[in-house]
Amino acid sequence: MRKLALTLTLLLASMAVLAAGDKSCGQIDCYEFKADISDKASMQRGAATFVNYCMGCHEAAYSRYERVATDLDIPIELAEQNLIFDDSKIGSLMVNAMQEDAAKKWFGATPPDLTLVARSRGPEWLYTYLLTFYEDPSRPWGANNLAFKDVGMPNVLLELQGTQKCLPGDEGDHGICANIEHVADTGSQTVEEFEQTIWDLTNYMTYMAEPAALERKRLGVYVLLFLALFMVFAWLLNREYWKDVH
Ligand code: HEC
Repeated sequence: MRKLALTLTLLLASMAVLAAGDKSCGQIDCYEFKADISDKASMQRGAATFVNYCMGCHEAAYSRYERVATDLDIPIELAEQNLIFDDSKIGSLMVNAMQEDAAKKWFGATPPDLTLVARSRGPEWLYTYLLTFYEDPSRPWGANNLAFKDVGMPNVLLELQGTQKCLPGDEGDHGICANIEHVADTGSQTVEEFEQTIWDLTNYMTYMAEPAALERKRLGVYVLLFLALFMVFAWLLNREYWKDVH
């Protein structure tokens, strides 16, 4: 009995640790983020942000425009007008024409393919990363990031978010910033609007990293319905078998 109690305690303790999951995002704990891939309106907005602000440098080479349009209920014609900005066809992979060696020269690093980044880094990391660019004149592009110290990527959403500065005194011992504040009246979006923009973008990128999850959810409902129905018949059959025994 005592052994059982001990095992249970250990089990519960380890579950608590797992559940708490204060994932670390560079200098800070990750912000909370939980994707909702049933929210198609959110993912449509996220897709628009992605093609407008990210695909100049990044590709999503394992994703096709057509699949995205179909999955997110975007009519093909609208997708052609609003998601494709080069001579790609609707059936094309989501690639761009950036030269890798040129990018390396400009940014010190090649912008990686983003199809799977929500899975490799985790959605919480991605959400935190996209919200925590801040002004840092010591960096080549004038920006740094709390989740990715000395990142090579410029702060591409600056015009929407506005300026964020490192709080004085929080630069840490080694000039590492751990806390930022938004400078009032900068950026075309309010703080809440920008958080929504990034929420939608991260939501879209979570879907992009695993489009089959949508299909799985849809199938799951049918499987449960089937099991419920099957149970009724199994119960009826069981009753039939035992009728004569009693
Ligand atoms: C001007 C070019 C440029 C644009 C536009 C751009 N990025 Fe980047 N991005 C980069 C570069 C360069 C890196 C590599 C940084 C490094 O390794 O230091 C990067 C890195 C990243 C990473 C980290 C990937 C990893 O796992 O290391 C993510 C995530 C990312 N970008 C997301 C985005 C999103 C989302 C957008 C659109 C809102 C975007 N980027 C727009 C240049 C760009």
